[in-house]
Amino acid sequence: MIIYNKESKTFNLSTKKTSYIIKILDTNHIAHIYWGSKIKSQNLDYVIRRRNWGSFLTNTDNIENFMLEATPQEYPGYGSTDLRSPAIELLFEDGSSATDFRYKSHNIYNGKNKLKNLPATYVESDDEATTLELNLIDSLKNIEVTLVYTVFRDFDAITRSVRVKNNSKDDLRINRVLSANVDFKDSDYELLQLSGAWARERHIIRNKIRSGSQSIESRRGASSHAQNPFIALVRENTTENYGEVYGFSLVYSGNFLANVEVDMYENTRVQIGLNPFDFSWLLKENEEFITPEAVLVYSNKGLTGMSHIYQCLYGKRLLRGEHRDKIRPVLINNWEATYFDFNETKIKEIAYEAKKLGIELFVLDDGWFGERNSDESSLGDWFVNETKIKGGLKKLADEINDMGLEFGLWFEPEMVSPVSELYKSHPDWCIHIPGRNKSEARNQLILDLSRKDVCDYIIEKISDILNSAKISYVKWDMNRNMSEIGSAKLPKERQKEVAHRYMLGLYRVLEEITSRFPNVLFESCSGGGGRFDPGMLYYMPQTWTSDNTDAIERLKIQFGTSLVYPNASMGCHVSDVPNHQVDRITPIETRGIVAMSGNFGYELDITKLSDLEKDAIRKQIDIYKEIRETIQFGDFYRLLSPFENNDTAWMFVSKDKKEIVVSFVRTLAKPNPKFVSLKLVGLDEDSSYEIKGENLVLGGDELMNIGLNVPELKGDYDSKMWILKRL
Ligand code: DGJ
Repeated sequence: MIIYNKESKTFNLSTKKTSYIIKILDTNHIAHIYWGSKIKSQNLDYVIRRRNWGSFLTNTDNIENFMLEATPQEYPGYGSTDLRSPAIELLFEDGSSATDFRYKSHNIYNGKNKLKNLPATYVESDDEATTLELNLIDSLKNIEVTLVYTVFRDFDAITRSVRVKNNSKDDLRINRVLSANVDFKDSDYELLQLSGAWARERHIIRNKIRSGSQSIESRRGASSHAQNPFIALVRENTTENYGEVYGFSLVYSGNFLANVEVDMYENTRVQIGLNPFDFSWLLKENEEFITPEAVLVYSNKGLTGMSHIYQCLYGKRLLRGEHRDKIRPVLINNWEATYFDFNETKIKEIAYEAKKLGIELFVLDDGWFGERNSDESSLGDWFVNETKIKGGLKKLADEINDMGLEFGLWFEPEMVSPVSELYKSHPDWCIHIPGRNKSEARNQLILDLSRKDVCDYIIEKISDILNSAKISYVKWDMNRNMSEIGSAKLPKERQKEVAHRYMLGLYRVLEEITSRFPNVLFESCSGGGGRFDPGMLYYMPQTWTSDNTDAIERLKIQFGTSLVYPNASMGCHVSDVPNHQVDRITPIETRGIVAMSGNFGYELDITKLSDLEKDAIRKQIDIYKEIRETIQFGDFYRLLSPFENNDTAWMFVSKDKKEIVVSFVRTLAKPNPKFVSLKLVGLDEDSSYEIKGENLVLGGDELMNIGLNVPELKGDYDSKMWILKRL
């Protein structure tokens, strides 16, 4: 609900449990009054305080003691008295940059409009949300900025995006335009971020914030393995289940900035949006620029409180299409089983075994096209390699379908290998700067998706393949970041638009392909989780979480990912031992328990396994099929963090609260260990729960206050999973 109080000129944006309050000041500047637990009062004028001392702060409008720099603002510009980090920075034809945006008008309506050409959360009917559009104007330069806020009926979240319109006759350059800015009135926070590297994505890092700016960002042309487009401000005492959390997530897959600035008076400014680094956008007369959407979540119920809001909102109103609410299949992928070394006989052998074990989908990974026998060639040549796949894709897909499995296929459509037919015909189709080296990574270059012709080519090529055989799943990979960024099609004054135009091109390609093939289940991937972000999830409801398939490494990766992303969006596979990324040997049971915590699959040569191992796999698949609805769509609770403990534990509660799945993994064995009882959360204290296989019934009150007895575990990496049924 959004209410505008004319007397106090205050907008009160409320969700079930939160309020976000904005005020138009007498000068028509827009102040940020409050964001947090729900507040009933309509008049919070007392929150805005003036200081009669402020050395080196400048009076705004020359009003004694009124200083924007000492006022919490909604969307600060630069140069007109607030000298903290701006949300927007423009360059006018006269060379100046100072702006002064003030209230012009507003509009409140039911529903939520689509964000043109960009992924965003959505509503299915107008009564699900209310939107405020707040129009601000810099009257000297005639530039309009519209701040768009949506609150949802069913989710405690606020989305924000910004439109900039050039109403002047002059050219305008946008050098910075962030999606959200929130000014907090203290700095007693820690900054939580999800950071890492290839095969080590989304580790949780938490540090006290300090005076000055601290930021996380991507300059890599993708959201990246290194930093996820998400941060949270948390109180020092915030835990999983208690304490305040302010989450900021960006629905975007390219360069982003999340910046936290603590000012001279210990106020904290948080900003998130497109990274201004190497970005500049030319806006001509009457043109409009739209920013990606930021999704803001407040919870006073700790990190779990925040995660549940993100997981539910993203699970129901970001993910789209027929697979959003559909049980996801158990798959087998041949990558770690064969790498590039396979033919159709080998593929069918794996598929045949897979079917016998209960697997439902076979995914043919990299190496099926062009002359692709290593990563040295053929990206872009999307025609089947008939030496490897005799008889072609249709025949193979049919044969796999006949075995009772669905057939899925890997692509890396955004790339081109210099050794390829495509590159020979179109050497200028890649991102490059004339005269500079075209630097290769994994022997490949990036196709210039800022160009319409290149995007059209990709759409048609991928569509041709998807039409040529019965393909029910696509893995959409992307394996390098951008360098020497330039486009042969854009004039020099637009070269700094390339990275963002690339994302807009990619989003168009994805929109077109996913709507042409609504039945296909798409999984995005970027060397594992290098583009695990809300932008990609809008088009593809699941993501390959990491190239690291080691069960112990996965504990941290999946824990971190679960802070923001729905269970059903995480691809998790059991792989071979010694593990291919870290050489670790873990028991098959533990690999199963860890991989069963998302979209379950296998990625190893099952034809080479012993009967004992096959039995274990058959059992895992049977169990997973029984509990997968709870895992994929239930509520997720983190119990013991691998970042803090030798033991890691987590649990799922089905939406109807009748089924509970609890998992526990011990990293290293210890001599003479203590008895461990694992306290559960999220149960009904008055209900009784049967613990499957243990002939034991315990009350919810017991399980939450005393806990489940963890049995004595043997050796390193041992684990245990329980299934509980509410009676
Ligand atoms: C990177 C992906 O993350 C892997 O799963 C695999 O598909 C390879 N690319 C194939 O080249």
